[in-house]
Amino acid sequence: MNDIRPIIDESRPKVYIETYGCQMNVNDSEVILSILQDAGYALTEDITKADVILANTCSIRDNAEQRIWGRIDQFKIQKRNREGVIIGIVGCMAERLKDKLLEAVDLVAGPDSYRSLPSLLEAVRPGSPQINVLLSHEETYADISPVRLDKNGVSAFISIMRGCNNVCSYCVVPYTRGAERSRDPHTIVREAQTLFDNGYKEVTLLGQNVDSYIWKDGETVNFARLLAMVAEISPELRVRFSTSHPKDISDEVIHTMAAYENICKHIHLPVQSGSSVMLEKMRRKYNREWYLERVEKIRSVIPDCGLTTDVIAGFSGETEQDHKDTLSLMEQVVFDSAFMFAYSERPGTLASRRYPDDIPYELKTERLNEIIALQGRMSLKSNEKEIGKRLKVLVEGPSKKNPDELCGRASSNKMCVFPSCGEKAGDYCEVEVVSVTSATLLCKRL
Ligand code: SAH
Ligand code: SF4
Ligand code: F3S
Repeated sequence: MNDIRPIIDESRPKVYIETYGCQMNVNDSEVILSILQDAGYALTEDITKADVILANTCSIRDNAEQRIWGRIDQFKIQKRNREGVIIGIVGCMAERLKDKLLEAVDLVAGPDSYRSLPSLLEAVRPGSPQINVLLSHEETYADISPVRLDKNGVSAFISIMRGCNNVCSYCVVPYTRGAERSRDPHTIVREAQTLFDNGYKEVTLLGQNVDSYIWKDGETVNFARLLAMVAEISPELRVRFSTSHPKDISDEVIHTMAAYENICKHIHLPVQSGSSVMLEKMRRKYNREWYLERVEKIRSVIPDCGLTTDVIAGFSGETEQDHKDTLSLMEQVVFDSAFMFAYSERPGTLASRRYPDDIPYELKTERLNEIIALQGRMSLKSNEKEIGKRLKVLVEGPSKKNPDELCGRASSNKMCVFPSCGEKAGDYCEVEVVSVTSATLLCKRL
C-alpha cells in the first residue's frame, strides 16, 4: 500500500510531472506517481532537480498539442545542462503522435501502459528511446492507490472507468484512450473510504461518459447504484461526478442524486450545439428537444441543480441558423457556466475524413466570442437567482483576493466567498448569498 501523499526523499531519483488536459489526466498523473514511487522514485516540483521529466499530455484540440511541442524544447534545455535526464511524453498525445515523438524524446507511453513505466525508464539509453502505446480492454489501475497531488487535501478524483465507446465525429478521445471499460465498484468504494479516512471531504467520480458505467459480477452495479454506494460512506463526504452524456443520463441517476444530501446537486451536461442538424453530424445521438427534455427532467426533480456545459463553435458546415440555435438554447437553459471552444479538426476522426473543416477561422472566432459573451450574461443571471439563498459550503482555503475571506463551493458547484471565522480547508460553513458577479457568490455568515 502506498502513502496517500508524495514521499519526500532526497536520496531517491526524482521525477517531475507536468499535467495537461482533463481531470482524468490529473488523476492519471497520480497513478503514474504511485507506480514510480513503488519503483523507488520520488516526486520533485523543481524541474532543475529532476532525473525524469514527464509531460502527461492532451490531444483534444490542436492548440493543446502545440503547447507540448513548445514545452519539449524547454525540457531539452534541462537535458543540455545535466547529463542523463530522461524526457518522457505520456498520455493522449503519446498515443496519437508516437512516431514523431520518438524522434524528439526518450520515452513515449500511452494511457494504458503506465505499469510499464519503471521498466521503460530502466531501458532508456542515449539513442535508444523506449515506447509502449498498447491500448487495453481491461486496464483500469483498480489496484493502484493514486498518490494525491492536490494542494489542500479536501477534494480528490477517482476514475471509475476508462476509454470511450462513443464516436462523436469530432473527438479524438476514443482513439487515444481506447474502448470503454468500468472498474470494480468495490475498489472505487475502498478508494473513497481511504480518502475520507485521510481527511478528504469530497470525491469526484470520473469517466468520459459516467452514465454508461456498468459492472457485472454476480450483482449488477450501474452508475446510479455506484453513486449510492459511495454516498453511503458518510454524510460528511460529498460526491461529485463528471461527465454525464445527455443521451445516457437516466431518471434513476437523477432520483439517486435527489435521495442523498451529500451527492452534490450539479451536472456537467455537455450540449456541444443547440442545432439538431449539427448534433446529428457530430454523432451525439440526441437532438435539441431530447437535451431540453433532460434539462426539464433534472429541474423538475432537483429544482436547484447546478447545470454546466461544453459548447463547440464552428463545426463543419455550421450555418448562421445553427449558430443561432446554440445561442437560443443557451438562453433557454441558462447554464451556470460553460467551457466553450472553437472546433479544431483532429486527424483520424470521422469528421476529418467526412466533413470539411470549412468555417473560416475569423467566423469561428466571431461565433465563439458571441457564445462567450452570452454565457457571461447567463452566468450572471444564474447567479442572481441565488441572492438570499442559504448554502452549505465546503471550504477550500483563503480567497485569492482577500486572505481574511474564505472560498469554497456550494453543492451546485458555484464558487462562494465569505468572511472567515477561523475555519480551515475541509470545514463546512453555512452562508447566505448577498451579492454576485458572473463568477462568484459573495456571501455573509449565518
Ligand atoms: N466525454 C465528454 C467530453 C470530453 S472532451 C463528453 O462527451 O461530453 C471535453 C470537451 O472538449 C468536449 O465536450 C467538447 O466540447 C470539446 N472538444 C472535443 N473535441 C473537440 C474538437 N475537436 N474541437 C473542439 N472542441 C472539442
Ligand atoms: Fe469524445 Fe464523445 Fe467520448 Fe466525450 S462521449 S469523449 S466527446 S467521443
Ligand atoms: Fe485530452 Fe485525453 Fe483528456 S485528449 S481531454 S487528456 S482524454
